[in-house]
Amino acid sequence: MCILIFSCLLSLLDTTQLGGLIGSLSTSGKSFFSVDWHDKILISIQVPRNRYWGLHPPPAPLENVIDDGLTAIQRAVFLKKAGVETAVDDDFHLNPPSRADLLESAIQNMIRYLQACRDNDLTPSLREGVDTLLMYLYRALNRVDDMERLASCENSCVVEELETLLNDSGHLRTLAFLYAGKGMSAKALGIWCILARNYSQSSYYKEQSEETESTTENEDSTTDLQVASRKVIFGRETAAIEASRILEESSDQELVLQHLGWIADINQTLAVQVLISEKRINQLSPDEVIAAIDLKKVEILQRYLQWLIEEQYSDDTRFHTTYALLLAKSALETYEMELTTQNSVAGALKNEMYVSEFGASSIFETPVRERFQIFLESSDLYDAEDVLDLIEESELWLEKLGHETLVLQILALKLEDCEAAE
Ligand SMILES: *[C@@H]1O[C@H](CO)[C@@H](O)[C@H](O)[C@H]1NC(C)=O
Ligand SMILES: *[C@@H]1O[C@H](CO)[C@@H](O)[C@H](O)[C@H]1NC(C)=O
Ligand SMILES: *[C@@H]1O[C@H](CO)[C@@H](O)[C@H](O)[C@H]1NC(C)=O
Repeated sequence: MCILIFSCLLSLLDTTQLGGLIGSLSTSGKSFFSVDWHDKILISIQVPRNRYWGLHPPPAPLENVIDDGLTAIQRAVFLKKAGVETAVDDDFHLNPPSRADLLESAIQNMIRYLQACRDNDLTPSLREGVDTLLMYLYRALNRVDDMERLASCENSCVVEELETLLNDSGHLRTLAFLYAGKGMSAKALGIWCILARNYSQSSYYKEQSEETESTTENEDSTTDLQVASRKVIFGRETAAIEASRILEESSDQELVLQHLGWIADINQTLAVQVLISEKRINQLSPDEVIAAIDLKKVEILQRYLQWLIEEQYSDDTRFHTTYALLLAKSALETYEMELTTQNSVAGALKNEMYVSEFGASSIFETPVRERFQIFLESSDLYDAEDVLDLIEESELWLEKLGHETLVLQILALKLEDCEAAE
């Protein structure tokens, strides 16, 4: 029977025929093994019967092949009961295989065969047929890991043949990997965005019910919830990582800026990596990037400006001034934060929160104060007067922070230099 199936398959491995086989199999995921398969099997044999079919049987839907085989077995069993000698051994006819088992094992054998085919030297169209069919068969058995592995390695899958199928059966990650591999970045990003959003909305309860195995291991129900929430966070992170990987190589500025926001919501470091990536062919326009960054995500803006100035050697005075002003504001905010923390009754407790909120989550390693001072000294291109104005507005700075007068001294020197130069 296997030989029959393989020859069907081989004769179908021409992309025009492939559609036929896929059509014959592509009932919706669950009904693949369902009873009403007869109605759904439609196959068009476009190749005329010729001498080839004398040696090899013409293509037929897998289900037909299996049914023919089962009929043959039943006939043999019947004959045996009637006392006629047959080739069927006793074991086999006492336990005839079920149709579903046969179909599954046939598909598994086809998968093994196609996997071996991939190592051979095939023509491009044959390669397309093998990979597309392989993806189709993985899906039929819901082998998600194999689907994702195939989709994310170099492959010749025909995306158009698979996208509706994968979308409808909810194999969106596989589809996103396929899109990305074929350079269909916008579509891939669209999926990662949907997935990231969905992970953050999806209820933990559903995830929990899927975690039945871990329930038996961990009797503590909070652990279960932690597992579930970790899964959600992991899903979101993965979506953001995959999306940023695509965007780091993309010179499509509109696409980058369109997806920057949700990636930054998940992980600011990833958003920064996208913006300062040197893997793209054409750099992004700094003005449009700066305009697009959410003003609430100050650290991203700071890091981007720092990159423009320190790594791209931009001498645009607007960037220098904006950067200096942003650092000044952040430094002031940090002082205020420290002050309220110290004054608070539950100071110790809040101090811990302060560390986790403003220490660990910061994308910078050095404290803003230090960065501010270093920048003021190292650059001559910012508007010292603007920075001084900002600082002087803050009573806090002048009253409480006598020890930070270094900043004021630097600014005074810069201003003197300016006046001297004029
Ligand atoms: C994918 O499926 C969703 C609903 O599940 C549908 O709204 C959307 O149009 C589908 N997209 C494609 C490309 O088929
Ligand atoms: C979104 O999450 C819900 C609930 O967890 C799930 O049923 C649904 O299939 C998900 N949709 C997508 C597109 O992943
Ligand atoms: C954000 O992504 C970076 C780089 O992938 C990673 O090192 C970091 O741990 C992530 N941060 C968080 C808060 O998940």
